[in-house]
Amino acid sequence: MAKNDVAMLISAAGGDDLSISVAISHIGEGRAAAILIDELVSRADLREQAGPACCVHFELLVAGRAVPHMVRVSGDGVTHGPRSGPEPDATVRQDFVELTRGVFGPAAARTSRTRQIIWHNTDPISDHSEVPRVAPTVHRLLRGAEMRADDLGELSLRFGIDKWGLHYYTQHYERHLSPWRDRPVVLIEFGIGGFDNAERGGGSLRMWKRFLHRAQIYGVDIARKNNVAEQRIYALQGDQSDHRFLESLLKESGPPDIVIDDGSHQCADVIATFGYMFPRLQPGGVYLVEDLQTSYWPAYGGSSVQLSDRTTSMGFFKALADSVNYEELMVPDDHVPAELDRQVTGIHFYHNLSVIEKGTNAEGTLPPWHPARFA
Ligand SMILES: C[S@@+](CC[C@H](N)C(=O)[O-])C[C@H]1O[C@@H](n2cnc3c(N)ncnc32)[C@H](O)[C@@H]1O
Repeated sequence: MAKNDVAMLISAAGGDDLSISVAISHIGEGRAAAILIDELVSRADLREQAGPACCVHFELLVAGRAVPHMVRVSGDGVTHGPRSGPEPDATVRQDFVELTRGVFGPAAARTSRTRQIIWHNTDPISDHSEVPRVAPTVHRLLRGAEMRADDLGELSLRFGIDKWGLHYYTQHYERHLSPWRDRPVVLIEFGIGGFDNAERGGGSLRMWKRFLHRAQIYGVDIARKNNVAEQRIYALQGDQSDHRFLESLLKESGPPDIVIDDGSHQCADVIATFGYMFPRLQPGGVYLVEDLQTSYWPAYGGSSVQLSDRTTSMGFFKALADSVNYEELMVPDDHVPAELDRQVTGIHFYHNLSVIEKGTNAEGTLPPWHPARFA
């Protein structure tokens, strides 16, 4: 299974050399090479910053042999596959295990000690330069396996989405999602974008793929979406408020670490989705809800008057702030707290965005003998 191959490589890349070698031979060297090069191509943005037409040949070294794989850049786009066609303009030679760790391992573990670049075409960029014309393309391909942090606001603009510029969510996403960047997480986003247009949407999924370089990314939209799926991105059609659909989604994805609700923004849908998904989030997981302005708008089931009405999304999430402190309520000893109370360890409110953290909320209250209890 293609998806399992990618997940296996990501998981192995966080381990030692032996685990990575075992994963490569289990998946098959040719297939593993294709997965790594696909990732480098997708991180290189070659479509936007088209360089000259060229071929870059990769030789991934394993047990004294080279596994070949070729990237071809032309006016028609970027493709990659087994070596064929014209002579390459450059060859990149690198240890297979090192490149696997570079692409899918934690950023701090990325190295390029075994990398060698051989320029076959030395035509210079300009008359005044000694740098080969194809060097920028090779550089873009290789930087995807180097230690560098992408700014999420910049990525949002690059992928043409409104998380920076219309809204200003990216600063908060950076704060809450940065700890996940080096982990092989599952992210689900409700709302792929583009509404009824099957050809549009997917920008945010591509942004998450870039920012969370070891994650499996699932997008859900009520409308059919073509051309969104790619390596590490899976697009499913369904209604975010339909619990039967959500059950099938979770069978496919496994328990998520990160859930983002950027779907219908109807208060009832927001609350129904949260009610099903939050208890199924991994412990330590994070749930983010965008566009909470609709909580104040009647057309979305909201109200600008009844601000604590729990059928509005803000009314619902504000009540969760009390869940964080449920142990402090003066209730009878045999009071049984709601399951949700025990799971919400933190809640943050930003302009139109809320972030809810999941864990075990059971620190306990002050002991009975504490003087403050009698004040
Ligand atoms: C604001 S767009 C998502 C934008 C995308 N997340 C981004 O950042 O580029 C909202 C999407 O939610 C979808 N949607 C609306 N109602 C939905 C529902 N009940 N379940 C799932 N998706 C829904 C729409 O079709 C639309 O494409």
